[in-house]
Amino acid sequence: MPDDPRTAPPRPEGPRDDHRSVQEFFGTRAAGWDARFPDDERAYAAAVARLGLSRGDTVLDAGCGTGRALPPLRSAVGDRGTVLGVDLTPEMLAAATTAGRDQWALLLLADVSRLPLVHASLDAVFAAGLIAHLPQPDVGLRELARVVRPGGRLALFHPLGRAALAARQGRQIGDDDLRAEPRLNDLLAASGWRMTSYEDQDARFLVLAIRQNQHPRDRRGGIG
Ligand SMILES: C[S@@+](CC[C@H](N)C(=O)[O-])C[C@H]1O[C@@H](n2cnc3c(N)ncnc32)[C@H](O)[C@@H]1O
Repeated sequence: MPDDPRTAPPRPEGPRDDHRSVQEFFGTRAAGWDARFPDDERAYAAAVARLGLSRGDTVLDAGCGTGRALPPLRSAVGDRGTVLGVDLTPEMLAAATTAGRDQWALLLLADVSRLPLVHASLDAVFAAGLIAHLPQPDVGLRELARVVRPGGRLALFHPLGRAALAARQGRQIGDDDLRAEPRLNDLLAASGWRMTSYEDQDARFLVLAIRQNQHPRDRRGGIG
């Protein structure tokens, strides 16, 4: 495997192995994470701006890592707003704290596929570099839909487009790629989201979606 921290860790057997594999992969990279990507600040701020947050909103940074998106998220929602950062890797959250980013958000150690949040409690979710690391992206996206209010928003962001990232990792991408437009559109629709914008340029991958009124679980007898 190339030594690139944006490369997905090997796929393990079950949920506990999935977690351990993610934690091992990112745990060893957490301390040097920000130094490896020093020029991304403006790209994160620009992506956050596209989320259309208002003062006083409640927003989650899902898979927040070292918290690079937390300062622009806090700026967008202001002092009366709420910013949460969730990550599965303790070392990433520790690096966020060391960098002082815990001043902008409440940081939680949790799995985005099983969030300790009540239904429809968020206005929006920002997720940078997350989706490719989820063993079951549909489960993660459904859980994010559960905690976002109808009409709330989702941004799936990466500071590199698909082709640029694949080239860096020395691999090819095809239409079966998780983040290919038709596939992601279907995945989002089946998970309670309506895709409203899809951008895949060298310098950024950014998909925006709106939480549909009906959550997939509603059809099976109520959100639960
Ligand atoms: C590529 S890093 C991106 C970190 C940060 N969002 C950024 O843009 O710098 C992916 C992050 O997702 C976290 N992650 C992966 N699977 C997760 C899960 N199921 N729940 C919460 N966090 C997860 C990893 O621990 C890691 O910090």
